[in-house]
Amino acid sequence: EKDGHDWFMRKEIHEQPRAVADSLLSRRTPEGLLQLDEVRLSDEDLRDIDKIIIIAAGTSFYAGMVAKYAIEHWTRIPVEVELSSEFRYRDPILTHDTLVVAISQSGETADTLQAIRHARTQRSKVLAICNTNGSTIPRESDAVIYTRAGPEIGVASTKGFLTQLVACYLLALYLAQVKGTRYGDEINQVVDQLEAMPGHIESVLADADQVYALAREYVGARSVLFLGRHAGYPVALEGALKLKELAYLHAEGFAAGELKHGPIALIEDQLPVLCVVPPRGRDQLHEKMVSGIQEVRARGARTICLAEEGDTAIEPYADVLIRLPKVPTLLQPLVAVVPLQLFACELATQLGHDVDQPRNLAKSVTVE
Ligand code: F6R
Repeated sequence: EKDGHDWFMRKEIHEQPRAVADSLLSRRTPEGLLQLDEVRLSDEDLRDIDKIIIIAAGTSFYAGMVAKYAIEHWTRIPVEVELSSEFRYRDPILTHDTLVVAISQSGETADTLQAIRHARTQRSKVLAICNTNGSTIPRESDAVIYTRAGPEIGVASTKGFLTQLVACYLLALYLAQVKGTRYGDEINQVVDQLEAMPGHIESVLADADQVYALAREYVGARSVLFLGRHAGYPVALEGALKLKELAYLHAEGFAAGELKHGPIALIEDQLPVLCVVPPRGRDQLHEKMVSGIQEVRARGARTICLAEEGDTAIEPYADVLIRLPKVPTLLQPLVAVVPLQLFACELATQLGHDVDQPRNLAKSVTVE
């Protein structure tokens, strides 16, 4: 049942190309328009939306952080991302024209459920992104986009996360289509790029042995840091969460630009720092990231850099280089998170932990 893998988690990591491909199936009409069958909100309702609030917990929250970058870029609708457990307690501003997007793999997370119940009392529209048909959160929502990861048995979310990202991109593009923003022309091109992602993820998985060997070098590490910027920032947070929950190791993710505001004081000799390097582009993201990496390396950190094919600027500052396929910045999380999943899975295995059932954790958290 684990297809020859030692853990369900490892099997599920390897199922990601298929899960992403499934989540993209039949999303375009013969005319090339995006369609999301389960979104039962009318185009008029969607056009009226003036604010989006995404609520989620844990790994799903990090998918929400990526969604914010994508939705704001393609639709120009302001997006807030909030932890479900905090949402109700801050007296959020909700109106009829607020779209609340609840992201939950299980569809049963109590904090997220209570948050959408609160949103509905304020007459806001609620859209769920969920992997479990018929679970409570989609049942209590106005609309749902089902992710098509298939059952996820490992407690730590992997293919669930990747398919949540796909659903978030599709939602962003769909809203752009409905609103008719100036990014309208880009929609088809981005969907084409999404359709190429399963192949890209496959190529990252083909290099799993490099990551496994690396993980084995860090079995004695006491702390691991993760750096990212833009859409790579939530990826850094997710990489750190995976390591905490599976390897019971102190791990923290930072926005690379925040280093100088405090965390750089943590850097000491040989501290492993995993860096998600943004693709090279017209913005300054890549250069800024490279200089951040230079800073930590100058202070003795071991820099393990995830960078796109052909990025030579990073080479002098990378102790270890893990190559990623060339993809757009907004879509990079789909490939960049994969080596981090493999790293945590292997490190935890080497430490002798139960990767599928980490201590103190449950697959769905039905208490607040
Ligand atoms: C981490 C993990 C958790 C869940 C969180 C939300 O690997 O799986 O952080 O992401 O408990 O769960 P759902 O998405 O079911 O609401």
